Amino acid sequence: MNDTNLSLSADRGDEPASNVSGNAQLADIITRRYGRRDVLKSGVSVAVGTLFAGNAIAQAVKGGQPAVAQGPVRRPGAIPGFTPVPHNFEDDVVVPDGYNYQVLLPEGETIIAGAPAYIPGDGNSGSDREQQMGGHHDGMHYFPLARGQRANEHGLLVMNNENIDQFLLHPQGVIVNSDGSRDPDQVRKEIASHGVAVVELKKGGNGSWSVVRGRYNRRITAATVMELTGPVAGSDFVKTKYDNAGFYTRGTVNNCAHGFTPWGTYLTCEENWAGYLTTSESPAPREKARYGVTGFFGYDWWKAPGDEYARFDTTPQGASALEDYRNEANCFGWIVEIDPFDPRSTPKKRTALGRFGHEGAWLAPVKPGRPIVVYSGDDARGEYMYKFVSAKPYHPTKANDLLDEGTLYVAKYHDDGSGEWIALEYGRNGLTNQNGFASQADVLVNTRSAADFVGATRMDRPEWATIDARTGYVYLTLTNNTNRGAAYPTDEANPRAANRDGHIIRWQETGGAYAATSFAWDIFVFGGPTLATTQALAIDAAYAAQVFPGTARQDYLGEEASFNSPDGIWAAPNGLLWIQTDGYKDATRGFGNQQMLCADPATGDVRRFLAGPNDCEITGVVTTPDGRTLFANVQHPGERGNSTWPRIDGETRPRSATLVITKDDGGVVGT
Ligand code: FEO
Ligand code: CA
Ligand code: CA
Repeated sequence: MNDTNLSLSADRGDEPASNVSGNAQLADIITRRYGRRDVLKSGVSVAVGTLFAGNAIAQAVKGGQPAVAQGPVRRPGAIPGFTPVPHNFEDDVVVPDGYNYQVLLPEGETIIAGAPAYIPGDGNSGSDREQQMGGHHDGMHYFPLARGQRANEHGLLVMNNENIDQFLLHPQGVIVNSDGSRDPDQVRKEIASHGVAVVELKKGGNGSWSVVRGRYNRRITAATVMELTGPVAGSDFVKTKYDNAGFYTRGTVNNCAHGFTPWGTYLTCEENWAGYLTTSESPAPREKARYGVTGFFGYDWWKAPGDEYARFDTTPQGASALEDYRNEANCFGWIVEIDPFDPRSTPKKRTALGRFGHEGAWLAPVKPGRPIVVYSGDDARGEYMYKFVSAKPYHPTKANDLLDEGTLYVAKYHDDGSGEWIALEYGRNGLTNQNGFASQADVLVNTRSAADFVGATRMDRPEWATIDARTGYVYLTLTNNTNRGAAYPTDEANPRAANRDGHIIRWQETGGAYAATSFAWDIFVFGGPTLATTQALAIDAAYAAQVFPGTARQDYLGEEASFNSPDGIWAAPNGLLWIQTDGYKDATRGFGNQQMLCADPATGDVRRFLAGPNDCEITGVVTTPDGRTLFANVQHPGERGNSTWPRIDGETRPRSATLVITKDDGGVVGT
């Protein structure tokens, strides 16, 4: 561990890099592999049939939908059918002609019947916020509460509240007492602003949606009691003063993206959790050091009086782990399963899926009698891509409890376009006592270290994944990698080698079996400015030369599609591939506010569908089953002080909120 690598990037959500292993980086592999690229088309799709000729994937593709054809193949209904919107530099939301949107569930909105109302200026207390929408709306899923047509008009929207902006949360400013302690109600409000919201929604006769303050509505926060399950539960790693037996803990934080299961549960994922906890140990044990447990968000919750806050400082205080919170950090970094239909259910931290900076948890299409497969990336610079394969098969009509037993794999991307999944299983692949791994609980608590050991491929910040059930392609956004330095063998004279703009990789598992241990991959699209912009800026020309070596001009995105820093991605059942961004605005390079785009996975065509207000990220996307109502989130508008959006409730204080987007003619959104 080299502390000089623990600098927090200016990029929101960019965890300090803590991977100092020497494992190969994906960018190196891409550059090597694409030194002589084959046929490329507008939209930057790689001709899979050429690159993968003769391998199992090429055969699989032949037998089904062509993933990328040799010429444009337009499948009716799958092509984005709207007029793209231009880049937006204004403090507002822009949608295509023929579309409209409603703003729903702004931060602080009361969701519990009888709870205090939101006070403009965010004058609410910590206890108020426990019954109101949290901040930084992120991944979400819509669970219908009715059947047939009514499923499209009545459901539960379950949403992550990832983070906060302290300066917006406390109108009087952050209070620090003369003894250095933090105000407990302010800390309580910050804790209550994190987590998950379960909200019942209904569409009215006038077509607008409203919150039903009914029995399902619930806030889960960074203080909610949670159960630990799977191989780590009950182990010494998670025994604390709170639960000497190691089966219960409190809270979930930095809930970024999400997942959902066919048995009706929601998966919330702990991403930059390490920023909420600290330790004074030097050196810290690897289960802290390898994750950067340094309190890097600066919230200092442990400085408020009370055991429930003190636990965020994990420095050993007592005679043993049973008397203090030295193990508290081991209770974070997990995927948490929530039953949104039972408001009294205890969320379960599913340790079998590994401990890292989980962006999300996406299930491959399930089949009766087959195991379930869950993809999850670790969003930090130079971290890895994982998947979990359950030990037991899915059963569509019985209760399924499949997330506690199975195999966690990490991905290795080979130069030739093939890849393999390496099992992170105690006793296999060198994960033995001799090499410092004493049990499966040890492997899972130290997932990153285990992945280092087996030589997984270091990635440019894995964000969302999605699975296109029609082709078997798994898409993964790699948002950017802005801070390669000593730990990253990059060419500093070639700035775009630092991958400021990100790209989207995809792969198909061998034989079309999601549980397979090998796959074939290619790049779906590279983020970046237009060709004209690139040519105008020497810095970009140099970068492009590395990212697109020897390729033609049509590799560049057009004005209607240019973007950087892909983050959210969703292959909707109707064939549209939605892409959301969490990047930077830069008029010089032609980038406006953050956006949502829509792609045709068959052709690689990309079009801008929506652009958000100032300083926001667009994240979270789901539709009603009929595809005619789309929900998307505007996260942290004004986080740099430059927005007044959404300008409702008579105030100009910016608030994260959900957009409910429909087509004027009532059609399927995006077509
Ligand atoms: Fe919370 Fe990786 O975005
Ligand atoms: Ca994200
Ligand atoms: Ca991001």
